[in-house]
Amino acid sequence: MITIVGAGIVGSEVAYSILQDTLGDVVLIDLQADLARGEALDMMQAAPAIEFDGTVRGSGDFKEMEGSELVIVMVGQARKPNMTRIDLMNVNAKIIRSIVKEAAHYAPDCKLMIVTNPVDIMTYIARKESGLPKNRVFGMGNILDTMRFRTYIAQELGVSREDTQALVIGEHGDSMVPLTEYACVSGIPIANLLSKEKIDNIIHRTITSGANVIKLKGATIYAPAAVIALTADAVIKDRKRVMSVSTCPSGEYGCSDFSIGVPAVIGKDGVERIVELKLSAESQQRLEKSQNAIRQAIAQLQP
Ligand code: LAC
Repeated sequence: MITIVGAGIVGSEVAYSILQDTLGDVVLIDLQADLARGEALDMMQAAPAIEFDGTVRGSGDFKEMEGSELVIVMVGQARKPNMTRIDLMNVNAKIIRSIVKEAAHYAPDCKLMIVTNPVDIMTYIARKESGLPKNRVFGMGNILDTMRFRTYIAQELGVSREDTQALVIGEHGDSMVPLTEYACVSGIPIANLLSKEKIDNIIHRTITSGANVIKLKGATIYAPAAVIALTADAVIKDRKRVMSVSTCPSGEYGCSDFSIGVPAVIGKDGVERIVELKLSAESQQRLEKSQNAIRQAIAQLQP
């Protein structure tokens, strides 16, 4: 069973993707109980068409998450135009603190995935307040940034997105670090295919892509929803996928006191292993800046 806390547009889109992928039964929880019930009812009516034989329930009661294998938290305020993800920190921190305690109480064996922004800080809080083991608490991190990076590289080269592999690490925010040295098309490093100027432009588009969507339509929906469903698939089916999630390393990448995006093996135990890479001097410098950005934000957290 998978619980989604937050039945807004992204939460509902994720729930529906999970049903379409037949990953398991879904519970949608929202303080607006009627919204959660309505979404579940609407999805249930689509179930015969999408050949889903399980259950989808909506509720306002956290008790409904009992026995969940995966709890995905995406409540809280969303970014508006001209806001950074960090601007949301103290408002969303309060909400996350209370929800993750409910998750640890009702679903103590769950993997807890945080989507609420600023996701690295919210994941750090979730880990501390839930008391759940490190490997079972992680944030959406840079999986979404990685998809955006891949999209723009493929677009620039006019090649398949499937053949375009890349990795973004660091803060899921303005200081994220797209790793040019590990980006490739079917094994060919992009430095062999694109000029430095073009690569810098792709990096800029990757970093600003969330904000650009928000400017145009108010919120990002399909891209985060697709990525969250992909991560749920990795956990539920124990896929051992290598993805850049927000997690608290044990010294890898020089980090042990907060959560940050790093590549990791994702399976039934959540973050099963962090993959430590040798970075170029430029990426190393950017990663240190990104770590400082997270540290500085944490220092401004209100109790
Ligand atoms: C984005 C939000 C989810 O980048 O942070 O679309």
